[in-house]
Amino acid sequence: MDIDVNYEVYLINTIYYNFSNYSYIIVNKTTKASLIVDPAWDFKKITDKIYQLGAYLTSIVLTHSHIDHVNLVNPLIKQFNPRVYMSELEINYYGFRCRNLYALNDMDRIDIGETKVLCLLTPGHTAGGMCYLLQDSLFSGDTIFSEGCGVCNFKGGSAEQMFESIQRIKFIVPSDIRIYPGHSYGKMPGQTLEYIMKENVYFQINKKSFFIDFRMRENKKSTFDFKK
Ligand SMILES: [Fe+2]
Repeated sequence: MDIDVNYEVYLINTIYYNFSNYSYIIVNKTTKASLIVDPAWDFKKITDKIYQLGAYLTSIVLTHSHIDHVNLVNPLIKQFNPRVYMSELEINYYGFRCRNLYALNDMDRIDIGETKVLCLLTPGHTAGGMCYLLQDSLFSGDTIFSEGCGVCNFKGGSAEQMFESIQRIKFIVPSDIRIYPGHSYGKMPGQTLEYIMKENVYFQINKKSFFIDFRMRENKKSTFDFKK
């Protein structure tokens, strides 16, 4: 995309036993105000990067409340005292609590320094999952991955809502936006939505009942085997 964006996205891959997560630090180029999406597992790796960039952390933005997306919230609050954002639905459904917590509703806008963020409610993986749309990027948590979509059989999940959320992303998000999910199952984060719509089978199913059956099928070889 050729538009001039006022921020840079830094990918932080953090690993803890069999979890492999992506957190993202988004730094305003001029002011160095920064936010982090879904900080997990490796406090030193994340804080070293923040210091190395000369950034200061004003906000933590959470896609959902699963432990592998939120487990560094409290240590980062202690270190930087940022605001913390999560959808109101997610907060209420799972009872998520921390200091400096701000509840978001669908289509809310938050300004982090001069970086504008549009909040899209995308339930399905959890009851109140949220994706965050910036000028040229979408942070999608476990709603969509490059290779598939999040599982819908955890507490508060719903394959029907996941179907609606994917349709919504297709409708609202421009096709040249880069998608930054919470995990990778082979492809680097940052693929365009256009590419994902071609490659990701969950974007190609237009019938809700078929989508639900396919997402909830039991004969998968593994949870993350998206196609079989
Ligand atoms: Fe999750």
